[in-house]
Amino acid sequence: MQNKISFICNDLEINTGIHPATTVLDFLRKTLFLTGTKEGCREGDCGACTVLIGELSGNEVIYKTVNSCLLPIGSVVGKHVVSIEGLNVDGLSPVQLAMVEEGGTQCGFCTPGFIISLSAYFLNNKIYDHSEAIESLDGNICRCTGHTAIKRAAVRSVDYFNNLKGESLFSAGLLPSYFSDIPNRLIGLKSKIASNGDSERTTQYRIGGGTDLFVQKWEDIYKSDVNFISNNGNEEKIYISGNECFVNASATVSDLMNSELLLKYFPDIKQYFALFGSLPIRNRATIGGNIVNASPIADMTSFFLALNSKLHLIGDNSAPTQQGKDSLGREVLLRKFYLGYKTLDKKPEEIIRTISFKLTTTNSLFSYEKVSRRTYLDIASVNTSLYIESNNDIIKEIHISAGGVAPIPLYLSKTRDFLLNKKVDSKLVPEAAKIAISETSPITDARGSVQYKKLLLRQLLFAHFLKLFPILVNYEELV
Ligand SMILES: Cc1cc2nc3c(=O)[nH]c(=O)nc-3n(C[C@H](O)[C@H](O)[C@H](O)COP(=O)(O)OP(=O)(O)OC[C@H]3O[C@@H](n4cnc5c(N)ncnc54)[C@H](O)[C@@H]3O)c2cc1C
Ligand code: FES
Ligand code: FES
Repeated sequence: MQNKISFICNDLEINTGIHPATTVLDFLRKTLFLTGTKEGCREGDCGACTVLIGELSGNEVIYKTVNSCLLPIGSVVGKHVVSIEGLNVDGLSPVQLAMVEEGGTQCGFCTPGFIISLSAYFLNNKIYDHSEAIESLDGNICRCTGHTAIKRAAVRSVDYFNNLKGESLFSAGLLPSYFSDIPNRLIGLKSKIASNGDSERTTQYRIGGGTDLFVQKWEDIYKSDVNFISNNGNEEKIYISGNECFVNASATVSDLMNSELLLKYFPDIKQYFALFGSLPIRNRATIGGNIVNASPIADMTSFFLALNSKLHLIGDNSAPTQQGKDSLGREVLLRKFYLGYKTLDKKPEEIIRTISFKLTTTNSLFSYEKVSRRTYLDIASVNTSLYIESNNDIIKEIHISAGGVAPIPLYLSKTRDFLLNKKVDSKLVPEAAKIAISETSPITDARGSVQYKKLLLRQLLFAHFLKLFPILVNYEELV
């Protein structure tokens, strides 16, 4: 039996017994008849269906943009869902006005999604910047008007809010007044949900962010029993214990990019993952999902493979509350997790609870490279990550991943063995690249031919070393 699903939609409290895998998009349009949210691709690609999801963090509500076409309603329990209708104020909001005045809307199909994304930018930031505001629209596509006028509207909105000098978003006309009461209402709702308890559920599909499952199997999931994998709310998503870093499997790409802790060890992490999908996808896509989906070109998997990460698996969704190694479950090295194409060292009832890796040291360097047909909003043709520790230019530890060149996300073990204890120089790198290529078995597909992918891997390995050892490795000597 399924409990009622309770959340706030705009200013209305919802309690529904609808199937938890119903997408928020369908619920908004077909049950609440809120048709401002549009259905375009239904695959997370166009942003026509973008809504805001607000979640309590202490007494504050943090809002994120998500694609409602990939968002199961069961995952918004206790949260605030804001559709375009939920942003209605008297007259037009400053963002809507800028869009009209700059001619950013023609047929209007994409406009609600753009307004939601741009409003979220002002909601989530205190200092406003032209290029960041434009970047916040990276998940929205306009097919009829083009993006120039929309970018102008973003710039105009930034100028408007920068001129307000500390005025609240309510008096500035961005948000309707009911938003001010949402934190209290969510706190009340949370205790109501807690006292309802949870009902027994059999599980056929376990859903993380749903960004793979809802593209691949939506109709199937809708007919099945489902369960949601989430951290229990009390746990830190990313923390250090001893000399290891632990990342909860339900952490999203955005969580990784916004982690002050990871930024300390990986100063370029924001650039790496800016190449992952769009902002609404990054706000939902979890590490656990990326690893278990087992796509050979999975980007987070590439990153964690090169850190020689360990997976900690537990038998079900009852994540222990206590942190620490003893409570983390069965350990498997990520590089040993993939047994064949989409075949994993994982029992059906197991879920990944945490991923851990040894902290990088002062002698270590990290590099991530991804090439896709389009720089942004595209999956990789080939991706690769490299971790290296050296002492007096001698390689003391190294781990390299290579995606898109085998049926599984590949860990280059022979290349590692070859490179260990060797001195980094321009002769070594092409030799290592030859061994790396011998470890691969790419296929020709829409992302490139066998020869192209092998060449790409070689070039990306060159790029790792040229970037990390600019004095020792020279481009002219490599080619
Ligand atoms: C528009 C779009 C763009 C994308 N761009 C990229 C990209 O650039 N790079 C990239 O790598 N991927 C990309 N993806 C793919 C997808 O977003 C990622 O693979 C994502 O990390 C999947 O995570 P999820 O939580 O959404 O997985 P879900 O869809 O929820 O789940 C996927 C699978 O993992 C299982 N699962 C989830 N969490 C766990 C867990 N903790 N333990 C055990 N099993 C679990 C589920 O049961 C399911 O089998 C894109 C997807 C879309 C729709
Ligand atoms: S309908 Fe295109 S992203 Fe949801
Ligand atoms: S205004 Fe028509 S698709 Fe953007």
